[in-house]
Formats: sequence, C-alpha cells, structure tokens
Amino acid sequence: MTDLNGKQEAVRNAIASLKDKPGALLPILHSVQDALGYIPADSIPEIAKALNLSRAEVHGVVSFYHYFRDTPPGKHTVHVCRAESCQAMGSKQLESHIKSKLGIDFHETTADGKFSLEPVYCLGLCARSPSMQIDDSVYGRVTGDRFDEIVNELETSL
Ligand code: FES
Repeated sequence: MTDLNGKQEAVRNAIASLKDKPGALLPILHSVQDALGYIPADSIPEIAKALNLSRAEVHGVVSFYHYFRDTPPGKHTVHVCRAESCQAMGSKQLESHIKSKLGIDFHETTADGKFSLEPVYCLGLCARSPSMQIDDSVYGRVTGDRFDEIVNELETSL
C-alpha cells in the first residue's frame, strides 16, 4: 500500500516530467495510474492546476476513459475479453460466471479487496478464445471451472 508521501510523490513526479509535453493530461494520468494503480481524487486539483485546466475537466477525462480507476484496484485484476472472437466462443457465459463468482460487476472490486474486474477488447489470444488475463498472466479456453480453479489458487496464495 502506498503511503501518503509516496502517493504525493508519484503525482508530483508525473506532473514534473510530463506537464510541458503537448497533450500532457493523458500521459500524466497514465503515469499516475501506472505508479499507484488508480487516480486518487485528491490528485485531481494538483493536476488541474499544473495544466491550467478546471478540476471538472480533469475529472471528466478520468471518468470518460474506463481504463482509469478512481479507487485502488484489488490485489489481483481480472481482465475478461469481450471482443468478437471470444464472444463467438462463449465469453458472455464466462463473463456472467465470473461476475457471479466474484460478486462484482465490471470496474468494481470485491469487498475484501482481493479482486477487481475489468473488460478488455482482445488479448491477442483469439485462437484460444475465450480468454482472460489475471495480472500479468493470460489464459486461453477458459471455462467457468478453470476460472474457479485459478481464483482458488490465487486466494490460497494471498
Ligand atoms: S477476441 Fe478475445 S483474445 Fe482476441
């Protein structure tokens, strides 16, 4: 968990290194999210001030792009592919299974902070649809049972 100083430092570093580039807002937001896993609400005024934008403008961009999180992610992030090839191979059922197993919808985190769920649009693993990614590992031909197995393994290793 990043402490307050670490959080402020990540935001300040992102601003200092990127604010003079054209179209700096998105790179700054990406840099903050890469460092912290989300865009803290209290970083928005600082980013807005540095770029001479209103808080509403920065907040609008954070909420427009689903990629950006405004809450800390869970310990593990599950990305389920929703693109065509996976849909043709039953990703909708897999998606429902995952939502029900974790008890959350997309862009949410389980109450115990262990898992977040995000959609993704093609993982480049179409030949092994339906696919998903958990943290840095990708999985093909995922069934509900296989998902449960993987999640149970991760839970015991937490
Ligand atoms: S469509 Fe799902 S991996 Fe390509």
